[in-house]
Amino acid sequence: MSEKIIVIENLVKRFPVGEGEFTALSDINLSFEKGEFSGIVGPSGSGKTTLLNIIGSLDSPTEGSCTVMGKRISDLSHKQSAQLRNMHIGFIFQVYNLLPVYTVFENVEFALLLQKRSATARKKAVMEALEWVGLEKMADKKPSKLSGGEGQRVAIARAMVKRPELVLADEPTANLDAKNAHAILQTMKKLNEELKTTFLFSTHDEKVMAYLNRLIHLEDGKVAQDEWVTAKSTR
Ligand SMILES: Nc1ncnc2c1ncn2[C@@H]1O[C@H](COP(=O)(O)OP(=O)(O)OP(=O)(O)O)[C@@H](O)[C@H]1O
Ligand SMILES: [Mg+2]
Repeated sequence: MSEKIIVIENLVKRFPVGEGEFTALSDINLSFEKGEFSGIVGPSGSGKTTLLNIIGSLDSPTEGSCTVMGKRISDLSHKQSAQLRNMHIGFIFQVYNLLPVYTVFENVEFALLLQKRSATARKKAVMEALEWVGLEKMADKKPSKLSGGEGQRVAIARAMVKRPELVLADEPTANLDAKNAHAILQTMKKLNEELKTTFLFSTHDEKVMAYLNRLIHLEDGKVAQDEWVTAKSTR
C-alpha cells in the first residue's frame, strides 16, 4: 500500500510587504508518497523555495495545512519542528555552507551531534555517508580543498547521514558544471533506490528534470501542471 509522506491542503502563503501583503503561494493541493523522486519546477519567483521551506518546517502556511510524516507543520512548537528536522528531514541547498574550519568528516558529523549517539556510532554513520557519495578518502580534508562538485557531495552526505525519510534539495545543481550535476543526481537517485529516501527538488535546471519521475509546475504561486514522467536520465 502506498503511504503519503507529505499532504498539502488548500495552502496559502502570504508575506507582509510594506503596508500590504504579497501572496507567494495560493490554493496548493498536493501530496507525495514515500519513495518519490519529484521536483517543483517553475520560473524564478514562482514560489518553489517558499513551498520547500514550509514542507521542511522552516516556515508555516498562512492558511490551509501542510502535514509531513503525520505532523501538521502549523501545530508544531519550535522544539517539535526542530525535532522533525533533526531526525527526519535532510536539506541540500544551492549554497552548501560547509563550515570552513572543520574537516569533511566533522562537517558531516555535525548533523549527528544534535542526536545523542556515541562517538563510535557517529564515526560509522559518517564514514558510510561519505562512501555513499564517494568521498571516504577526503574525510580529513578541509572544505577549501574541495571542488564545487565535491563540496556538494559533502552536503549530500551531511543531509543523508541521519538517514532521513525525506530530503529537500533546493536548486542543488545551480553552482555545478554539467558533469558534476549529473554525478550528484546519479548519487541521489541511487540513494533514492537503495535507501527508499523520498527526494523533493526545487529546480529550473533541465538536467535535474531529466532525472525526475514527477514534475510539479508552479506559476505565480499556483500549481499549473502536475505530471508523472518517465525519467530520461538514469544511472
Ligand atoms: N520573506 C519574504 N518576504 C516577502 N516576499 C517574499 C519572501 N520570501 C519570498 N518572497 C517572494 O515570494 C515569491 C516567491 O519566492 P521564492 O523564493 O519561493 O521563489 P522561487 O521559485 O524559489 O525562485 P528562485 O527560482 O529564484 O529561487 C517571490 O516573489 C519572492 O520575492
Ligand atoms: Mg528558490
